[in-house]
Amino acid sequence: MSAPTTSSDRGGFQSRLGFILAAAGSAIGLGNIWRFPYTAGENGGGAFIALYLLCVLGLGVPVMLAELAMGRATRHNPVGAYARLGGRRWAAAGGLGVVTGFGILAFYSVVAGWTLGYLWHAVSGTFAQPIDAKTSGALFSGLISDPVWAVVLAGLFLALTMVVVRAGVGGGIETASKILMPVFFVLLLGLALRSVTLPGASKGIAFMFEADFSKIRAPVVAAAMGQAMFSLSLGMGAMITYGSYFPRHENLVVAGVSVAFFDTLIALLGGFLVFPALFAAGIEPSAGPGLVFVVMPTIFHHLPAGQLFAVAFYALLAIAALTSTISLLEVVVSYFVDERGWRRPRAVYLVGGACFLLAVPSALSQGALPALSDVLGTGQGWLDWQSVVFGTYSLILGALLTCVLVGWRWGAEAARAVVEEGGHRLPMAALWSVLVRYVCPLAVVAVLVYVIRTGASF
Ligand code: PFF
Repeated sequence: MSAPTTSSDRGGFQSRLGFILAAAGSAIGLGNIWRFPYTAGENGGGAFIALYLLCVLGLGVPVMLAELAMGRATRHNPVGAYARLGGRRWAAAGGLGVVTGFGILAFYSVVAGWTLGYLWHAVSGTFAQPIDAKTSGALFSGLISDPVWAVVLAGLFLALTMVVVRAGVGGGIETASKILMPVFFVLLLGLALRSVTLPGASKGIAFMFEADFSKIRAPVVAAAMGQAMFSLSLGMGAMITYGSYFPRHENLVVAGVSVAFFDTLIALLGGFLVFPALFAAGIEPSAGPGLVFVVMPTIFHHLPAGQLFAVAFYALLAIAALTSTISLLEVVVSYFVDERGWRRPRAVYLVGGACFLLAVPSALSQGALPALSDVLGTGQGWLDWQSVVFGTYSLILGALLTCVLVGWRWGAEAARAVVEEGGHRLPMAALWSVLVRYVCPLAVVAVLVYVIRTGASF
């Protein structure tokens, strides 16, 4: 069982702002700019986006508060938190979170590696001249199908993550996020404004707003739920871990809701950036994981100081990805440190090294191992497959387990008391309780049952 750790030897965030920055750093990442647009594109656009917003409000915010309360109440990693609140058998639910974090990190670092590759292109002047969709597509294929590049870039990104996590997530990353996240936001706003004013952009805006709900099937609902969980860093214990460092007297509701709000704002901005530019350049919305990487280079030359914009954009995207990979690795590392008594450096090297091994097939699957998708019979690459298994279904299952534990086993009233610690009232507490106890679990179970019954391929 857990080694005895107290809040004093685990450290913690100094302030609510410190927490919001770290948690927003975890939430805001490739999920907003890379995964959200292509998932929305694959699932029909407007209707998916409406469903996504509903999932953020109805599932994301309640689960966010539940996870934070679990962390605050126990001051432990996900496995320790589940075990303390639910009994020994519930530790497996935390274990699922740890495995999921590991699985997400393995494919996330591959995509984060691509951002480094694009940063390199931006610095070396590739985007100084106009680039059309075809050239951009060829550039992307060239980058991801070069086995050495793809593996080296993923490894480099994991190494960067390991350096930060080994040192502990201290003042450095908090201070850096404080400066960099607002800059990222302003840049994104600038790019999105340019994107929506491109000739032909109106089709992209229409695509985001036209809501044809007739195409919504169980796998699409699952994708929207999974994307909401993924983007908010929920369903695998990242917010349990961060909540365990949250100051006791601070307002948890304001912190949790702020994180959800900013994350959603940035995802929508990601949509306003990608879809208009995509239609302007004549690219298919259902292009899959390469979408944002192919779209972006087509708009830089429409901007004043386009090359500078490109450098800043990829640098900040890489940073946004790094603050997310840190939290992913931290969840797994905190498990080995808290529960297995490993020293932090050992946990970082072993987990990071193992993750690299799992990342290699993802890095290669886009070009060097195209046959793998045939072997798996999914029609998708290994990376897409990992993204769906760990980044959608495992997270939805995690959300379900969180709701059952908090709503039924631990009890919504007890959890509410922890949320309200420090004298901060939880508005609409009765609604929260109904969502956590009934609506969220039933919605998740219904979607999973439908997906299994229809045998839908993911
Ligand atoms: N929320 C991150 C993103 O949107 O890029 C990804 C992520 C980080 C998922 C941490 C889960 C997690 F625990």
